[in-house]
Amino acid sequence: MSRIVYVNGDYLPEEEAKVSVFDRGFLFADGVYEVTSVLGGKLIDFDGHFKRLQRSLGELDMPAPAALDDLLEIHRALVTRNEIVDGLIYLQITRGAPADRDFAFPPEGTEPTVVLFTQSKPGLGESPQAKQGIKVISIEDIRWGRRDIKTVQLLYPSMGKMMAKKAGADDAWMVEDGLVTEGTSNNAYIVKDGKIITRNLGTEILHGITRAAVLRFAREAQMVVEERPFTIEEAKAADEAFFTSASAFVMPVVEIDGVSLGDGVPGVVASRLREIYLEESRKAAI
Ligand code: PDD
Repeated sequence: MSRIVYVNGDYLPEEEAKVSVFDRGFLFADGVYEVTSVLGGKLIDFDGHFKRLQRSLGELDMPAPAALDDLLEIHRALVTRNEIVDGLIYLQITRGAPADRDFAFPPEGTEPTVVLFTQSKPGLGESPQAKQGIKVISIEDIRWGRRDIKTVQLLYPSMGKMMAKKAGADDAWMVEDGLVTEGTSNNAYIVKDGKIITRNLGTEILHGITRAAVLRFAREAQMVVEERPFTIEEAKAADEAFFTSASAFVMPVVEIDGVSLGDGVPGVVASRLREIYLEESRKAAI
């Protein structure tokens, strides 16, 4: 079955879906995106992703497309049409495709480009990796200074992922001025003496939707949360570590730069938070 994708108002088989070569997402990475997970055919944290999308558009003075009001309906239509039980919905909005390549923003009235597609991932919630934990390496964070905006400038995170693979690890945590910012596509946490430590919000990291939910659940479960930067040395000496994202939920980290954490297996805090997150999110899914 050919996947049905959404492009600028139309639902089309993926082979027929086209975007202009002049699209500013393609030429300038002038676009924003969201990734929303689907569990049991329902959307996880749709409201959070929608609000962050609006914020990303606003921060970049990007016109909101007409389709914005209908995004929930479009997400649901794609889930249904592609028979997604567990998986992801990717959404991208760019500043559109003006007549020529020009660094200046296109004239008012240029229609934004809106693309959505699904990725089916049966059993997304039961990841075998979550049972083993994953290995990360640390790399220098050389990204731009507005990481709180979810843009499609993902070359460095993509290179970071490749650096990790080359080093025999699964992912990379980025470090700036000695302090961990975040993972290539996730927010980073350590646990020390039962305390959950994660970088405070700012322009240095993406304001993860999964992060917000996990910290809320942690506090509701009377766990202690400290939002502050931590060094990579502190991380290597931690009892546990984990990361969060819409595609991996809560993922235990068992090794950093070759240093094994705790017993070298997923820690109790990370495992418990994963359980709570999945349970609560499934309940609240729409
Ligand atoms: N990435 N930090 C970065 C740099 C990210 O790219 C992501 C998400 C996160 C976690 O945010 P959230 O919990 O809202 O997914 C943090 C998505 C999943 C991606 O690019 O595929």
